Amino acid sequence: GDTSASAQAHSNIALAKYWGKRDAALNIPAVGSISITLDALHTDTRVTFDAGLTKDELWLDGREQQVGRAGLVLDLVRERAGIDLRARVVSENNFPTGAGLASSASGFAALAVAATAAAGIEATPRELSVLARRGSASAARSIFGGYAELHAGESTDGNDSFAEPLLDGDAWPLSVVVAITDPGQKAVSSTVGMQATSASSPFYPAWVESAPADLDRMRAAILAHDLETVGELAEHSCLALHSLMLTTRPALIYWNAATMSAIHAVRGLRAGGLPVYFTIDAGPQVKALCLPADAAAVASALTLVPGVQETRTSVLGPAAHLVAV
Ligand code: DP6
Repeated sequence: GDTSASAQAHSNIALAKYWGKRDAALNIPAVGSISITLDALHTDTRVTFDAGLTKDELWLDGREQQVGRAGLVLDLVRERAGIDLRARVVSENNFPTGAGLASSASGFAALAVAATAAAGIEATPRELSVLARRGSASAARSIFGGYAELHAGESTDGNDSFAEPLLDGDAWPLSVVVAITDPGQKAVSSTVGMQATSASSPFYPAWVESAPADLDRMRAAILAHDLETVGELAEHSCLALHSLMLTTRPALIYWNAATMSAIHAVRGLRAGGLPVYFTIDAGPQVKALCLPADAAAVASALTLVPGVQETRTSVLGPAAHLVAV
């Protein structure tokens, strides 16, 4: 049969954040998380299992890379399919590589979908989510569109740590304005940073303990389409995450001066009556959450913030899917 398949997956941003693992080898998160999938940022990936290859190859935006955790995802697919062929993975992001925008989530979600199809195996969205999680936990959420929740689960094999759709994007459309304050690569990867946090931050146990109640509140606020509560909870999750980072030894300081200026700009807009809320991941970019009708006003305000280099606006995006080639 076919040994080649292509898939597209969209990036996502967590409103209730994940940080820390309960099993590093199986990449099982210590806490659940809730995210929105973004339409504006996606990865297209083609996987070809080829008898002529002696090792797996990974090409990202035209350049060959270390295979890294993509090799692990391919091994899991080969094991399940009972094949022993090496694969060529050719991946393109529709956003500039190294622009400090998340790419592992869309990348591993697209890889899971394409590799599974190329190997000729049937997989449910839940199985694809578990597979994508092995590459990067945030990728488990990008299997789904709109609003998605990734469960930490309890089982030692991690098979109950998968994402599920929470709400359709169309049921409650929101926009995200990304303010780019530094286009360089981040200094410390999420994987390395969260390992250091769980080993050294005195706040880490409190973070894990408070996560289930925070997730319950976030889930309820999303299902109620309550932007004020979603925004307040998202900012709290973001600031709690960055408190963990700041109290890690050595400290993880992902913000720059423009990051802080953009936070204040968002709070200023809100004080002026505009419902807009910020969130920030393991990097210096600020993502502003608002109603689609307010996105242009939010983008022009953030463009004026000193140190903000550009903004990108997105609506909510679709689930990962195969594409015909
Ligand atoms: C701050 O999913 O990139 O964006 O599982 O080690 O690949 P690995 O980490 P990753 O971490 C994401 C961290 C975050 C919060 C989130 O997306 O939930």
